Amino acid sequence: MQNDNQNREGFSSGLAVFFATLGSAVGLGNIWKFPYLTGEFGGAAFLFVYILCVAFVGVPLMISEFYIGRKTRLNAVGSFEKLAPGKPWKVIGYAGVIAAYLIMFFYSCVAGWVYSYIFKAIRGDFIGITPETAQAQFGTTLSSPWQPIMWQIIFLLVVGTVILLGVRKGIERVTKTLMPLLFILIVICDIRALTLPGAKEGLTFLFNPDFTQIGPLAILTALGLAFFKLSIGMGTMITYSSYFTHDNNMINTATRVALSDLLVSILAGIAIFPALFSFGIEPTAGPGLLFMAIPLVFAQMPFGNLLLIAFLTLTGIAATTASISIIETTTLFFTEQRKVSRKIAVIINLTVIAVIGSLATLSADKTGVLGNVKIFGKTFFDLFDFTSSNILLPLGGLFIAIFIGYVIKKDDFVNELTNDGLLKSEGIVTAILFILRFVTPVLVIVIFLNSLGIINFN
Ligand code: TRP
Repeated sequence: MQNDNQNREGFSSGLAVFFATLGSAVGLGNIWKFPYLTGEFGGAAFLFVYILCVAFVGVPLMISEFYIGRKTRLNAVGSFEKLAPGKPWKVIGYAGVIAAYLIMFFYSCVAGWVYSYIFKAIRGDFIGITPETAQAQFGTTLSSPWQPIMWQIIFLLVVGTVILLGVRKGIERVTKTLMPLLFILIVICDIRALTLPGAKEGLTFLFNPDFTQIGPLAILTALGLAFFKLSIGMGTMITYSSYFTHDNNMINTATRVALSDLLVSILAGIAIFPALFSFGIEPTAGPGLLFMAIPLVFAQMPFGNLLLIAFLTLTGIAATTASISIIETTTLFFTEQRKVSRKIAVIINLTVIAVIGSLATLSADKTGVLGNVKIFGKTFFDLFDFTSSNILLPLGGLFIAIFIGYVIKKDDFVNELTNDGLLKSEGIVTAILFILRFVTPVLVIVIFLNSLGIINFN
């Protein structure tokens, strides 16, 4: 299991491994996507199904990607070439690189909104805000064409800068300091939200399951969210684990990352749902939910504007560290497979994402310039989100499960995950293999067929 690319950069310690991986997982998925999907699909019961998906699909697949990355010390494509030379498995890696771009097209758009909200909060735009003006503010953010694109580009420049600083000075340093801070800020936000008049209703919505709400579509959405949340199915975790330390207990890392990530999602839910019920905003409001609710939570509390600035800044940072992991995936592909310099790789990535990503931004709202342009019945924004989360990630996950379950030798998998027998976790590894062989593929095939509309549950 010794790596043969000794000159490669890597993370310096177990703690760095943990925070970098968590930095990839925690992002807009927790603070933006999780709350609005939970709102749309009825609350606690959706959360329950989501947790099952994380446990039975998410964690085993994350461990599989860790195996592939640390074993080969290569990028998403090169790693498959090395494990299965001359076989088509590397297509998984190529699909992952495409998925990385698709995700960045809309992710950078939403991250741009977050950055613009930081600026507006500093300017004082949210002082004395009411539920009506909160909704109007979000509307103007979407409909003025140039500003959101400018923020999207600013966001991409920040991401590019950190990537150019490299694995240790960039990724490692940024995630290690900022992840704990984000956590503290969300807890402060929670304390405020819990003292709002409608808090109890919000908590009931989030924690008291009503399983009559759960249809097959909700189950499938929860599964898709688990992929997106844990950054799996497209080689991001392969890329990051290629930087892991030799002695890392990867089963442990995956479990801790998944649990911490879940905690952040739930804490974000505790910040948002009480506010919705308190201010009479519909939980089904969709992608704008975060942007309408959060300024209101902070509006009438001491130091509210300051805390709002801090919260938005940390959300922006979470979006940044998650994007770093996505763009690192494509960057490492270019530097290792195409032998270009890191700088050129980053410039190519950012240019492509800025140009095509602006289509997402211009189409995110009905009133936008491209708001009414539909391809396969979807706006650019929705198309990028749909194709990546509902098609490419599940497909990638399915084939990774099959690859590990049926192609890789069991002994190899066990050796790598037990650090050549140093860790006494063979039993757990065997259980994970069982899940990868029989549980994960079945679940994923169902979500995949649904997202193509072959099975339609609605
Ligand atoms: N997990 C991140 C979030 O929830 C997004 C993300 C980062 C991602 N890397 C990824 C999603 C790789 C899918 C694949 O915000």
